[in-house]
Amino acid sequence: MLTEIKRAAELIENSSYTTVLTGAGISAESGIPTFRGKDGLWNKYRPEELATPHAFRKNPSLVWEWYAWRMKLVFSREPNTAHFALAEMEKLGIVKKIITQNVDDLHERAGSKNVLHLHGKLRDIICSSSLCSYSTQNIDFIDSIPEKLPECPKCGSLLRPGVVWFGESLNPEVLTSAFGEAEKSDLILVVGTSAVVQPAASIPLITKRRGGKIIEINPNETPLSYESDLSIRNSAAILQEILLHLKK
Ligand code: APR
Ligand code: ZN
Repeated sequence: MLTEIKRAAELIENSSYTTVLTGAGISAESGIPTFRGKDGLWNKYRPEELATPHAFRKNPSLVWEWYAWRMKLVFSREPNTAHFALAEMEKLGIVKKIITQNVDDLHERAGSKNVLHLHGKLRDIICSSSLCSYSTQNIDFIDSIPEKLPECPKCGSLLRPGVVWFGESLNPEVLTSAFGEAEKSDLILVVGTSAVVQPAASIPLITKRRGGKIIEINPNETPLSYESDLSIRNSAAILQEILLHLKK
């Protein structure tokens, strides 16, 4: 294990532009369930019933009930050592950008400033009407769900979580910026993602195709493992030990 930590620290020290792609696994040790794998959310709930525009149109109360539960869970949890290690690496000028698939705010609460949210943020509440630009971070309404669903003060439509649902496209500026970061990187750390959801899963390959390297940190193998220059079969917490080697 020590050799892998040393190897990772060496690759990071030799890199001039390191970025990070994170997934639900980095928040697992904060007590936030991942989506796939043995206790994954998608084992208990059907994403097509909860995380699609069709589901919201058909049964907004059910969708809001599920998101209210996730918001209360996420906002009651704290960043873990992995989040803090990445924030420290950003402070040291090592990590230039975190590209996350997560909709929680644990990277920001750990102190990371340069974070791109590919799939949106649970903190952002937006109007469900495509003709209306209203958005807020005020979630005072959360305790009256599902009896009363939040409505847009500007147009009266229902408000919805500001996250990207299955079947929706990602924010084009965010995606362009993420691809740009991957192109600039000569090293990308891929932490806690099953690497099965596109376009996120292609981001490390952009770095690879331009001669950059991939370090994967995941207790399980993923489709990205065989593309990785170093694949550490471990929890995201190992970032703290890699950080200690960087500081030496
Ligand atoms: N440290 C690191 N990785 C971990 C840990 C841990 N402590 N615990 C679990 N993992 C790994 C799992 O092995 C798995 O590969 O985290 C990964 C989580 O995979 P998913 O649950 O599929 O989450 P993610 O890859 O982020 O999903 C991508 O799918 O449903 C959509 O929008 C949702 O953003 C999400 C996207
Ligand atoms: Zn509106």
